[in-house]
Amino acid sequence: MVIVMATDAGTAEVEAVVDRVTAAGGEAFVSRGVSRVIIGLVGDVDRFETLNLAGLRGVQSVTRISAKYKLVSREHHPERSTVYVRGVPIGPDTVTLIAGPCAVETPEQTLAAARMAQAAGATLLRGGAFKPRTSPYAFQGLGELGLRILADVRAETGLPVVTEVVAADDVEMVAGYADMLQVGTRNMQNFGLLQAVGEAGKPVLLKRGMSATIEEWLMAAEYIAQRGNLDIVLCERGIRTFETATRNTLDISAVPVVQGLSHLPVMIDPSHSGGRRDLVLPLSRAAIAIGADGVLVDVHPQPEQAKCDGPQALVAADLSRLAKELDALTGVVGRQAS
Ligand code: E4P
Ligand code: PEP
Repeated sequence: MVIVMATDAGTAEVEAVVDRVTAAGGEAFVSRGVSRVIIGLVGDVDRFETLNLAGLRGVQSVTRISAKYKLVSREHHPERSTVYVRGVPIGPDTVTLIAGPCAVETPEQTLAAARMAQAAGATLLRGGAFKPRTSPYAFQGLGELGLRILADVRAETGLPVVTEVVAADDVEMVAGYADMLQVGTRNMQNFGLLQAVGEAGKPVLLKRGMSATIEEWLMAAEYIAQRGNLDIVLCERGIRTFETATRNTLDISAVPVVQGLSHLPVMIDPSHSGGRRDLVLPLSRAAIAIGADGVLVDVHPQPEQAKCDGPQALVAADLSRLAKELDALTGVVGRQAS
């Protein structure tokens, strides 16, 4: 069961709901979003229905939820949500381009990539300072130095920063630099990390696990929401299948499927899914055409020198084409670029 309250619901009003539910032996999980307060109830739903929760001050709706994930379900929130990252919207009314280096390598490289991204219409800058790598011998990222470089590039360009956090212990430090915390495919079910980013007070970009079902992905988002953070953007980045012609297999159908199940925005990462520069534009077109709320793409000024994922990074020439195509497509699907 889920209760929705107005965003200006006071502490006393929220506590009145929580107290009534806990007195009846239930558990209540409060999530304060930008436009509403959502309280997930766990326990005897039939008992909850005898508590007249709808009659309490500030309560706008009380809804039984059949899905296993409550707070991120559309059952209680039919309209789709918009998440704001330092004022930049990601949601149903816009197509948002997040672009930048896969890995922060140097100040010069990061600034060059940011300027390329901005020229293509990106309104958010991505950049990895902590890099989850298959090999322990591969470039692991610059760590906090990388975060400082991102902060400097933000100051120079005005682009808010999206960056991955890999360990729960680093969440507070990374959240001190980032405008949006990214949880990578390999960490989608790192439950301690999910709970930590749920409490960090920053919007979260949650990549789908490469072998995760859509239900597991939404349950992972529920871990974040249960800790009070509903500012979650889902990102389909390709799944692992038998096909080896592409790095991963972009599950394009996940966008409308998830949008039917959850109010959360859904983006696509054509860089990590295809794994090849020549696939990024066609996959980006497909993403916008099917209704994704944005795309996340890797950019590098000299991909041949990249320390991570060079083959999938766009170069300047690609970006002007990407900008034109996204602009044309957003018009076709009736959205604004953001
Ligand atoms: C994302 O950027 C990951 O860190 C990267 O794709 C991992 O690549 P690898 O599996 O070659 O280390
Ligand atoms: C990334 O976007 O930098 C990244 C690590 O992607 P993924 O988690 O999808 O592999």
